[in-house]
Amino acid sequence: MKFDPLFKALKEKSKVVDEAIFDLVPEKEPKVIYDAARHYPLAGGKRVRPFIVLMATEAVGGDPEKAIYAAAAVELLHNYSLVHDDIMDMDEKRRGRPTVHKIWGINMAILAGDLLFSKVFEAIAKIPTDPKKVVRVLDVISKTSNELCEGQAMDLEFESKDSVSIDEYMKMISGKTGALIDASATIGGIIGTDNEEYIQALSKYGRNIGIAFQVWDDVLDLIADEEKLGKPVGSDIRKGKKTLIVAHFLENANEEDKKEFFKIFGKYAGDVQGEGIIEEDVQEEVKKAIELLKKYGSINYAAEVAKELADEAKKSLEILPESEARRYLELLADFIVEREY
Ligand code: IPE
Ligand code: IPE
Ligand code: MG
Ligand code: MG
Ligand code: MG
Repeated sequence: MKFDPLFKALKEKSKVVDEAIFDLVPEKEPKVIYDAARHYPLAGGKRVRPFIVLMATEAVGGDPEKAIYAAAAVELLHNYSLVHDDIMDMDEKRRGRPTVHKIWGINMAILAGDLLFSKVFEAIAKIPTDPKKVVRVLDVISKTSNELCEGQAMDLEFESKDSVSIDEYMKMISGKTGALIDASATIGGIIGTDNEEYIQALSKYGRNIGIAFQVWDDVLDLIADEEKLGKPVGSDIRKGKKTLIVAHFLENANEEDKKEFFKIFGKYAGDVQGEGIIEEDVQEEVKKAIELLKKYGSINYAAEVAKELADEAKKSLEILPESEARRYLELLADFIVEREY
């Protein structure tokens, strides 16, 4: 299959990065917080972001060995954001397992997230490169983290807004998801080269695949197989998340269909799955909402947008010399908008 070489490379490269991650977050006392912090890294995940760091370094002619701790840093930041995101979204499943707050409670989950976040900086301090570059990586990570918080804040704010424009949605996902994927490619570039044009090209690539990644994640929330996805399907409908799909629907649907949609959309915003809710009824309602979105081609529209962004991302890489690493980055752009999980 088209992506087999990519999967093989992802698996192989994640081995060294995982060693660094588990070195930074070992089994240790107080056991409870380290167990909670190790839960998502141990559960798996695609490891897309650290792979981008390593491939970006290699694609600009650098030594990927020097980028291992930078790769660990972005995966730790990602995992921290997942722990806190699952509390905010009140989701029960992640990477096929119960979420951290579901097992250890909200307070311990907040702390486990904080620990993962502070480990990001420990990882950055270990990057074996020119200290000036390390400071620049630190700057990128700090600004990325600001953007991520801003994006997540917008996401939460949107839940209680009647409608959200396509521009507002794009800005929100550029922050909550685009920033870190941009940072992964940028940091790989910083470690691998002094050529600013290459670093900028990687940043643009990362931002575009990052935005595409979230648009596609929103599509998967509606159409994926829950077993394969490893996290709840339909969660965004229950919570009333304003996605590109919903923005498109609201701009195109007739009043009657919109009214029907709003009877379901966001109805379970404050509810925890399984508590006082008949799950079969919810599933039926979610299905009905999805049918309405399909009626206006809103899901297909979002899928098209994601694919265009991925194509644009690939174009930014054209200024880099041809290499195996560049080819992996190109293949990854396709995978991001074709994946089933
Ligand atoms: C999930 O990211 C969070 C989003 C930005 C949509 P991934 O889909 O990369 O999650 P893992 O790391 O593979 O579990
Ligand atoms: C995730 O957005 C963004 C971050 C974790 C910062 P979602 O809330 O859509 O991610 P999933 O679907 O829970 O993975
Ligand atoms: Mg979520
Ligand atoms: Mg969320
Ligand atoms: Mg999602």
